[in-house]
This record gives sequence, C-alpha cells and structure tokens, in this order.
Amino acid sequence: IPVDSFDLVIFGATGDLALRKIMPALYRRFLAGQMPHDARIIGAARSEMTDTQFRDTVRAAIREHAAGADPGQLDGFLDQIHYVAIDAQGVGGWDHLSALMRDDVVRAFYFSVAPSLFGDLARRLSEHGIADGDSRIVVEKPFGRDLESARALNATLARHFGEGQIYRIDHYLGKETVQNLMAVRFANILFEPLWNAQYIDHVQITVAETVGVGGRGGYYDHAGAMRDMVQNHMMQLLCLTAMEPPYHFDPDAVRDEKLKVIRALEPVSDADIVRGQYQGEGDAPGYLEDVDNPDSRTESYLALKVRIANWRWQGTPFYLRTGKKLRARTSEIVITFKPPPHSIFDEAGPRANQLVIKLQPDEGMDLFVMIKEPGPGGMRLVQVPLDMSFAEALGPEGADMPDAYERLIMDVIRGNQTLFMRGDEVEAAWAWVDPIISSWDDSKHRPEPYDAGSSGPDEALRLMHRDNRRWREIRP
Ligand code: BG6
Repeated sequence: IPVDSFDLVIFGATGDLALRKIMPALYRRFLAGQMPHDARIIGAARSEMTDTQFRDTVRAAIREHAAGADPGQLDGFLDQIHYVAIDAQGVGGWDHLSALMRDDVVRAFYFSVAPSLFGDLARRLSEHGIADGDSRIVVEKPFGRDLESARALNATLARHFGEGQIYRIDHYLGKETVQNLMAVRFANILFEPLWNAQYIDHVQITVAETVGVGGRGGYYDHAGAMRDMVQNHMMQLLCLTAMEPPYHFDPDAVRDEKLKVIRALEPVSDADIVRGQYQGEGDAPGYLEDVDNPDSRTESYLALKVRIANWRWQGTPFYLRTGKKLRARTSEIVITFKPPPHSIFDEAGPRANQLVIKLQPDEGMDLFVMIKEPGPGGMRLVQVPLDMSFAEALGPEGADMPDAYERLIMDVIRGNQTLFMRGDEVEAAWAWVDPIISSWDDSKHRPEPYDAGSSGPDEALRLMHRDNRRWREIRP
C-alpha cells in the first residue's frame, strides 16, 4: 500500500550513509510499489551538481549497494530524485530549497550529516518557514557522546521542533527480528507467564561482528564499543527483552516502558565489566594499527553483567557482549530458564530450557527442550532444539527481510514514532553509561587483548564461569 505523497530532503546526500543505505532502501520501497509516483526525494549537499549528475551518482550507488534489487526500474525511480546545492552554515541554496518544497505533502528532512550541523540545519529550516508543525526531521547516531552533549543536542533541536517531529534512528529497531521480539513476547501466551526472575535464570545478549574498525578508525577510537553499540543498539535489545507489556502498541506506550527499564538499571561495578581490543596477526592489522593510535585505550569488545532493579528481574542478571573481529557475525538473545524444581528421573537432572532468538544473520528461534532419547535402554534424556527459521517457516517472503532503513524511512512518512528513540530515552541511557566510561578514564584502564577471529578475551569467559554459567558459543 503506498504511503502518502512526500518531499523527502536528504542533507548529506552524497555521503556514505545516504548512498549506501538510504537510497537503496528507498529504491526497494519504490520497487515494492510503496512510493507514490509524485513523491520526491531531494538530495542536498555542499557540492554544485545538476539533477542529472546527482542521479548518476545515485544510480551507481544503487547498482553497488542494492544487491538483488532489479535495476530494471531504476530510471523511473531516478525521475523522482532532485538535487539542491546547499550550505548548511550559510545562506546558499536555502531559497531554492524553500521554493521547491510543496505545501500539500508530507515534508521530511533527513539529517545525514555530522551532529555538529544539526543545530544549523534546524535553524535554517525554521527560518525559511519550510518546517511547519507537521514536518519531520530524522537524525542518526551518534546522538551525543555523553549525557551533557545529548542534552545539548536535544535542547538545540527542541528550539525548532516538537518531540513529535523528531525521529531519532536506531537502525536495530528497524530490523525485522528485533520487532519480532515484541511479537513473540506479547502475541503469545506461552512465554510471558514465565518471563521473569522466578523462571528465568539469566539472559545473554550478543552482538558479534567479524568486521574490524578499519576505515572508521577516526570516529571509532573516540567512541569504543560502549558508545558505538551498547548505549544504543544493545540497550534497545535489553529494553525490548526486559520491558513490561505496553498497554498498546503505540509510540509513547512502548517508549515509556523502555524508559522504565533504563531507569531501573543498576550501576555496574568494574568487576562486572570486561573490555577487549583485538590483536593483529601476520599481515592483518590489530586495533591499534587500524585506528593508528599505538596508545589507544578504547575497547573494541565489551562484556558486562547488568542488573535490573525491579520486581520482575530481581536476581536475574543480563549479560551483554559485543565486539569487532570476532569468530562470526551473529546477534542473538538467549533466555536460559531455570531447571525444573525436581527431577523424577534417576539420571542426572534435566538441563534447563533455553530460548534462542536469532536476530541475524539467519533470523529465527530455537527452543531447547528435553525429550527421551529413542531406544530401549531405559529413560535417557536428551536436549534437542525446536528449531524455526523464519525463512523456512514463512516461505520465500520470509526470506526476503526488508532492510531496517526501508521500514524506518516509511515510518517517518507515515508519522509513526514507535521504532524511534525519544529524547528522554537517549538521555537516560547516557546517564547510565557515563559513570562507567568515566571510571575507565579515571583509572586509565586498559582493555584486554584478544585474537582476531576468537570469541573475545578470556576474561569474558570468566565473567560467566564465576557465576557457574557459560556463554553460548559464537558460531558461524
Ligand atoms: C553501527 C555501528 O551503528 O552498527 C557499527 O556504528 C556496527 O560499528 C553496526 O558495525 C552494526 O550494524 P549491523 O546492522 O551490521 O548489525
């Protein structure tokens, strides 16, 4: 079903995010018939370029980045694209842009630029009267680098836009399986009655990557895994796993519940944190070479044990870990239940049930259950997975998962903020993260080295072993 017609302005239109993610996502929506024929995408960037030159740039980007998308209809898509050269900090181009914008369609402005320009863009938009009460702005992470800067950024945007107009993207919320977490929890009777400290021993959330930081070293070395992954993506996964059922699938109802989880997070002590840095091997550069900073104390791996101080989760820890250059690219949430309270079988007691929610790459769920091992040899128990791949269960359509950006950009046009972070959520997340980062800075803490291609530093294993638990193996 097509969305309402729109003028979508992309500031930073010649940048990496716009060409690699935003344009391919829009093209896929075009192919799916969701983009109205009179909708317009207006690229805006500093360089002088004609519409035709910009369309050629977009054409090349889609050929390269929209793998599998039929390039046959590219010309039709490119016809809907325009370009305006604009100076974010000066006056150049703004009159042209205002003249171009239509009054009777949805107006959205995507700030695909450095956060230092957000304030200038917001101000120019309101000065030129092209950002009325119904228009929307879209901003990307990094949304601040600590509580203070996030507050300042929120305040800057709030000078020109209401909270209902600000769409802060966390692309993890656009991933199909991340949204599916809410479907699994709140559209089934099976799980929710057991979803608490009485029945769940612990939760593991893993986002493992095989890529290093090569190419983005300048940004990453000032961020580290905490700012780059934990403050945003991992926190969102934690919130969706731990939150109370919202009264309705409605933007503020969902975000209120997530906020309560963040506010209930206990401070984390040093003993519950492991930081790591990958090492080079042979010709492959290590982290320090990748960021070109031999003294760097930034972590490319982080594991931590988190406690949520509320009724539901008292006594059930959440273990989070994420890292670069690990053994496999895999993101999953593992719910380990408690063992049955009493075993009627003579053999060693039954193993605990485990629910594994696989977010990527092979989206699906495994529920590990005990059954009798077949055979005449008596009552032997064995644990097997009830194994569901969404691609198999849903057929070809299930295999064709839309990219996170497709969903999120269309939600902006529809005016649905459910999958976007509210300002208070972002601030609460920083309020929890800030003291952890400052304690590393104060103590000049150095990350533990780990081998590229491994599962991370050994200390992270000990974080679990200490509690008589173990991480689920990171497997290709
Ligand atoms: C980004 C981080 O937000 O998420 C990157 O800045 C990271 O460092 C990426 O690689 C991971 O996203 P995905 O969708 O590949 O899991």
